[in-house]
Amino acid sequence: MSDIPSFLTGDLQAQLQAAARDAQARAYAPYSRFQVGAAVLDEQGRIHAGCNVENAAYPEGTCAEAGAIAAMVLAGGTRVRAVLVLGEGAAPVTPCGGCRQKLREFADAATPVLVADRQRLRAHFTLSELLPASFGPDHLARPDA
Ligand code: THU
Repeated sequence: MSDIPSFLTGDLQAQLQAAARDAQARAYAPYSRFQVGAAVLDEQGRIHAGCNVENAAYPEGTCAEAGAIAAMVLAGGTRVRAVLVLGEGAAPVTPCGGCRQKLREFADAATPVLVADRQRLRAHFTLSELLPASFGPDHLARPDA
């Protein structure tokens, strides 16, 4: 596992965890009963949070990461510098495959993805560890015709 980069200080990690914990408490998860919170740090140093929002039509439910990304975009953020996902359970709650791709849109290969529960940091990865050989917006860049 790679080191957590030095810009992501212990204090910043704690702020991300607190934001994700507050978001988790607001999760709407009556079907799975599995509440998740997420927080992203943007390029301006701001933190945006999201929670999962389930739906009676199950596939329409959205993940916490998607909510956090939407909050960042709404606030004018353009890059994800760090991510923290927070959930309880036997295994650390890593982002689902779809959310790894959603993060890929705004994050770099080296962007840290932290996984926590309410008490502690449980694991950390880079985005490229979670989503190797990925496809992203850079692949669509074409020389001007
Ligand atoms: N979930 C998230 O919100 N983020 C994750 O990283 C993993 C899973 C949600 C989706 C669903 O509402 C519930 O957790 C159970 O899968």
